[in-house]
Amino acid sequence: MEGDSESYRQVNLANWNSRVPHHEIGYGLDAYRVDPDHLSNVIRFDLPRLGEVKGLDAVHLQCHIGTDTLSLHRLGARMTGLDFSAPALEVARRLASDCGADIDYVESELYGAIDALGEDRFDVVFTGVGALCWLPDIRRWAAIVSGLLRPGGRLFIREGHPMLWTLGDPRPDGEVVVEFPYFETAGGVEFVIAQSYVEHEGELTSPRSIEFNHGIGEILTALAEAGMRVTSFEEHRSVPWNPFGDGGRMVVLDEWELGDRPERLAASYTLQAVRTWPAAGRPARLAHGRQRGTRHGQHRGRRRRRGHEPTRQAQRARRQDVRRARRRRGAAANRTRAAGGRPQR
Ligand SMILES: C[S@@+](CC[C@H](N)C(=O)[O-])C[C@H]1O[C@@H](n2cnc3c(N)ncnc32)[C@H](O)[C@@H]1O
Repeated sequence: MEGDSESYRQVNLANWNSRVPHHEIGYGLDAYRVDPDHLSNVIRFDLPRLGEVKGLDAVHLQCHIGTDTLSLHRLGARMTGLDFSAPALEVARRLASDCGADIDYVESELYGAIDALGEDRFDVVFTGVGALCWLPDIRRWAAIVSGLLRPGGRLFIREGHPMLWTLGDPRPDGEVVVEFPYFETAGGVEFVIAQSYVEHEGELTSPRSIEFNHGIGEILTALAEAGMRVTSFEEHRSVPWNPFGDGGRMVVLDEWELGDRPERLAASYTLQAVRTWPAAGRPARLAHGRQRGTRHGQHRGRRRRRGHEPTRQAQRARRQDVRRARRRRGAAANRTRAAGGRPQR
C-alpha cells in the first residue's frame, strides 16, 4: 500500500461506492423533490457569502449525490458536477431529473478534471464540505482548480478545518485530543469505520478509507502558487454535522460546535479566491498540475525525483498510525466521528 499512489483511490472509491445506497436514503432527497426551492444546509449556511451565481458557469468538484450541485442550480448557476463515484452520480442524475434540473454530471478522478472538463471553462469552482481530505496533494488540487477557472473566475469552498481533522473520537470526559496529523503526510492515514455519517442499517461493505490532512498554510500557499488570490477566508466554530458526540451542541441549520467554550476550535472555514493570471500567463506550477494529473507514469517519476515518495521512516510511522487507527476505529465503529468530510444533507 505505502507509496502506491493508485491504492488510495481504489480504497476510497470502494468506500464511497459502498456509502451511496445509504446516503440515497439518509440525505433526505425527497425534500428537494417536494419543494422546488429547497436548498441544502451547506449552501444555505453560505448564502450571505456566496454572492450572485445566476447565469454563471459553475462546477462542483467531488459533488457526491448532487444535493449542493442542485442547490446551486436552483440559485441560477449552469451546473456541472464531477465525482469519481459512478453510483453517486447515478443518484445525482436521478435527483436532477426528478427535479427537472439540467445538470451535467461527469465521472472523473479529481486530478483528471481538466482532461474531463477542459481548461478555462468555469466562472465558479465550488467545493463542499468533506472533499480535500480525500486528496493526497493539495498543490495538485489547487492547480486543477486554477486551470478549470476562466481568468477572473473564483473558487468558493466550505470545508472542515484541518484542526478538526486532527481530533480523536469524542471522549466520555469531554477532553478534545489532537491525535492525527495536521500537515499533509505522504501516504495519509487509514481508517476502518463500518458506519457512514448518515444513520443506516447494517455495515458498509467497504469500510476502509485513506485520508489526508492539509494545513491552512499549505492550502493558502498552494492556491497562491497556482495563481489564485484569496479574497476572503472565514473560520467558523461550527460544522454541518456533529463530530463532538455528547460534547457537541447544535447551533443553526444542523451546524454543531463544541458545547463547552466553542471559541477554542475553528471547526470549518469558507474560503474564496480568484484566478489572477490571464489565459496566456500560465504559472509554471499549473502546467505540472495538468501533466501530472493526466500522465500517471510521468507523475510518479516526478514525485520520486522531487523526493515526495514516503521515506522508510514515514512508512513505518504510517504503519503504526494504521495499526493504532484500526484498533481505535474498530472499537469506535458505531460512533459518528468524522472519517473525513461529514457533509450535511
Ligand atoms: C463527503 S463527499 C463531498 C460532500 C458533498 N459536499 C456532499 O454533497 O455531501 C466526498 C466526495 O468526494 C468524492 N471523491 C473522493 N475522492 C475522490 C477523487 N479522488 N476524485 C473524485 N472524487 C472523489 C467521493 O466520491 C464523494 O462523493
